[in-house]
Amino acid sequence: MTLSIVILAAGQGTRMRSALPKVLHPLGGRPLLQHVIDTAQRLEPRTIHVVYGHGGDQVREALAREAVEWVEQAEQLGTGHALAQALPGIPDEDTVLVLYGDVPLIGLDTLKALAQQAREGGLAVLTAELDDPTGYGRMLRDAEGRLTGIVEQKDASEAECAIREVNTGFLACRAGLLRGWLGQLSNDNAQREYYLTDVVAMAARDGVPVESCQAPHEYEILGVNDRVQLAALERTFQRRQAEALMRAGTTLADPARFDLRGRIEAGRDCFIDVNVLVEGEVVLGEGVRIGPNCVLRNLRIGDGVEVLADCVMEDAVIGAGSRIGPFARIRPETELAERVHVGNFVEIKKARVAEGSKINHLSYIGDTRMGSGVNVGAGTITCNYDGANKHLTEIGDGVFIGSDTQLVAPVKVGDGATIGAGSTITRDVPPGELTLSRSPQQTRKGWQRPKKKKS
Ligand code: UD1
Ligand code: CA
Repeated sequence: MTLSIVILAAGQGTRMRSALPKVLHPLGGRPLLQHVIDTAQRLEPRTIHVVYGHGGDQVREALAREAVEWVEQAEQLGTGHALAQALPGIPDEDTVLVLYGDVPLIGLDTLKALAQQAREGGLAVLTAELDDPTGYGRMLRDAEGRLTGIVEQKDASEAECAIREVNTGFLACRAGLLRGWLGQLSNDNAQREYYLTDVVAMAARDGVPVESCQAPHEYEILGVNDRVQLAALERTFQRRQAEALMRAGTTLADPARFDLRGRIEAGRDCFIDVNVLVEGEVVLGEGVRIGPNCVLRNLRIGDGVEVLADCVMEDAVIGAGSRIGPFARIRPETELAERVHVGNFVEIKKARVAEGSKINHLSYIGDTRMGSGVNVGAGTITCNYDGANKHLTEIGDGVFIGSDTQLVAPVKVGDGATIGAGSTITRDVPPGELTLSRSPQQTRKGWQRPKKKKS
């Protein structure tokens, strides 16, 4: 039987106190709604409808690449009204699964079980037993334990409020049945809303079986209403990601101090120290060690690389056996070959560095092609920008650059050249020779330091 998914995401999210629509707030670096759409897609439905309302343009723009049907709910008249906006596009025989844009961690297996129950002909609802059911709709059952309805907290009697089995909101049912019931909803209740939950009582009345199932983890059904709940779910999400990484063979010094906002793939026996943030797509080879307080974004890092403390690295490829940091900044379009050393207070941007070269201290290397076995002295700067354009610096194999050298691009340094410390290099440097530019050293005999005047 074909599955159609409807994601309700029209609520305002007032308690976020934000200019950003609630469902666009990120969890693990991805909008809440993105998580739900990604999970929905893995169920391979015929269609995914997203019911949007508040901040609709922003939401649609942010998720424009998603293969979903957008359905506007101009006025938020309740969850039943929201689902009714999407139903016209869904054939009667489809199984409809209702998800929520602000409940991001619902599990795939949980949804499969729910959809399966509905395929067997009835209405399937996902419930939970909570120690504190405050705020949730309560499940009503008859003496035989059959579900007879859901009562919202605001409409509930004291006895009903004591029920700890709650409605999570997730449900699945044939579209034809839902269409019939939604047409009969009224808003004669405490909130003057068209409640989706009223379909449970209608099913019971019509003799349609109502089945319930529960999610294996409580976090799956938790929604985000404010930033406190968002932060709590973020921790849950990060904890699960960290556990998956550890199970796949990486040691984390402290899983509570590791954040992944994207994807990481790691070979065997990598070690990641505390307070590391990984964003985008990061691939680590085997035996990579990442020191504390590093930010890693979109990287391919080869086997045995060691990144020492406090490095920020982005959009780069780092060859096997290289050593980076501490305190290094690797900027986009950097490609380091094998066994390259980049030391403290070095910034590298859009540079290709061949194997075994060393840039160990206090340098800026940008728009550069560097050969192998080069030694770059402390404080070397490629002057790549003339105020209008960027220019290339080319450095051959086996070059030795003395400390505090400026290479004013465009400029080429031939293989095996040596540049004397403190040089400003403005013309090409021939291979194999010593080149330097330096004003002669002077000594003034008998010169006296000025003395402070007495006041
Ligand atoms: C709803 C359920 C309640 C359940 C709880 C779980 C109803 C009537 N009640 O209550 O039984 O325990 O969820 O969290 O369904 N939405 C729209 N359009 C609307 C109204 C809501 O898209 O007109 C969306 C919201 O964006 C939100 C979700 O539906 O994602 C739930 O709406 P909300 O108003 O928060 O329902 P609750 O009162 O929490
Ligand atoms: Ca809610």
